[in-house]
Amino acid sequence: MSIAVIGTGYVGLVSGTCFAEMGFDVTCIDKDQTKISRLKKAQIPIYEPGLKELVKKNIAADRLSFTDNLKTGVKGAKTIFIAVGTPTNEIDGSADLSYVFAAAREIAEHIENDSVVVIKSTVPLGTGRKMKEIIAKANPRLKFHTVSNPEFLREGRAVKDFLQPDRVIIGVDSEKSRAAMQRLYQSMINENIPVIFTDIETAELTKYAANAFLATKIAFINEMADLCDKSGANIDDVSLGLGLDPRIGKDYLKTGPGFGGSCFPKDTLALRKIAFDLGAQSEIVESVIAANDKRKLAMAEKIIKANSDSGGGGVKGKTIAALGLTFKADTDDIRASAALTIIPELVKNGAKVKAYDPQGMNNARKVLSGDIEWCDDVYQALEEADSAVIITEWQEFAEMDLAKVKSLLKKPLLVDLRNMFYPEDVKKAGLNYISLGREAVYSDARYQMSDVRKKKKL
Ligand code: UDX
Repeated sequence: MSIAVIGTGYVGLVSGTCFAEMGFDVTCIDKDQTKISRLKKAQIPIYEPGLKELVKKNIAADRLSFTDNLKTGVKGAKTIFIAVGTPTNEIDGSADLSYVFAAAREIAEHIENDSVVVIKSTVPLGTGRKMKEIIAKANPRLKFHTVSNPEFLREGRAVKDFLQPDRVIIGVDSEKSRAAMQRLYQSMINENIPVIFTDIETAELTKYAANAFLATKIAFINEMADLCDKSGANIDDVSLGLGLDPRIGKDYLKTGPGFGGSCFPKDTLALRKIAFDLGAQSEIVESVIAANDKRKLAMAEKIIKANSDSGGGGVKGKTIAALGLTFKADTDDIRASAALTIIPELVKNGAKVKAYDPQGMNNARKVLSGDIEWCDDVYQALEEADSAVIITEWQEFAEMDLAKVKSLLKKPLLVDLRNMFYPEDVKKAGLNYISLGREAVYSDARYQMSDVRKKKKL
């Protein structure tokens, strides 16, 4: 069975490679000639653990190929996946579907009768139906079927998420498309992975609902962390206590500097727009978006406040080591990362920033400007900085020698926006430590720091 995948971004490249790994003949198609010629040599444009090895292996096994020619790429493929980008339309927050529809129009000329066209990109309700109309209009004689098969993979764990998913959601428009998708996912069905067949609109909405719900959990726990700061409670224990209730579940209850990445921010905005267009309420999603935007700015304020001496002054004239630029660990993706809000705020308030990230430096350099020094490793970033802030939860930061951190910093202050350490361990190393929703610890009582965690009398 031959498959064509259009678009070699995160979703397209991972899906194509994993389908090849599952034994299918896959051709990945992209307009970007440079990207395609690199992919042919197994040079991967993104940092994704395990993906390069899999691409190499399947090219060698003759199951995976790459082309920039759509016409030859779809030849012989009975199932064609559209996995092109759906960026946010800056004007109204909707998903920009121009790439999806352009791909649909183009394939209409070249695919065979009885082909199944599958949308893998995250697309608003009704897109599958619209795509069907576009293909039918472009080639009225063509007999074809459509499917919505949203992808739930996470960056940094994409290969595992694809090959061992919690579930597969498939929206179909006919028995024929259902049978084709069943053949494709038969090995997962045999492994008792839930493969849910439904209609196209339901599949489309399920994807948005899943992302919006996870984003809601994060926004909720962040709100609880703020409440912990005011009340003296401990957010890590609150998360644990909440998560042990199986009705709630322990995942996505880790407080942080606000969610980022290519999906949650984009998909919550798109869901709000979908609801608005349909005349439905989206009050929960609406407040999740607003709370998350505010949180990123609040993190900058927290750092500024923590750096204020008794006389105030914030970060003006100070050097801050910013550890972590990507929206989460194990990726080089900086899209909607909290660092992109926090660092410009620090710079705006007169700080010099020494930035370091294990994978995100190249991407960050392209979008961040101002008084920023780009460092080669974590200790270089810390050297001669007044204080440090952890923005992304890289393992490398968890393994830092805290005594060395103390000796390199001019002031022993570590602000941790990912709660990576036990406060007592940091205190023992002689650092003052401010994390989220937990007690701030000051190793040296002489430090007159303005406590960012203002406990209200209960
Ligand atoms: C997400 C979904 O998880 C995935 O199913 C979908 O297909 C694409 O969007 P991804 O964007 O790769 O995946 O990142 P994810 O690991 O879900 O994290 C998103 C953001 O939430 C990150 O900024 C992360 O730091 C933050 N997060 C996550 C928290 O702040 N706390 C948590 O407990 C979990």
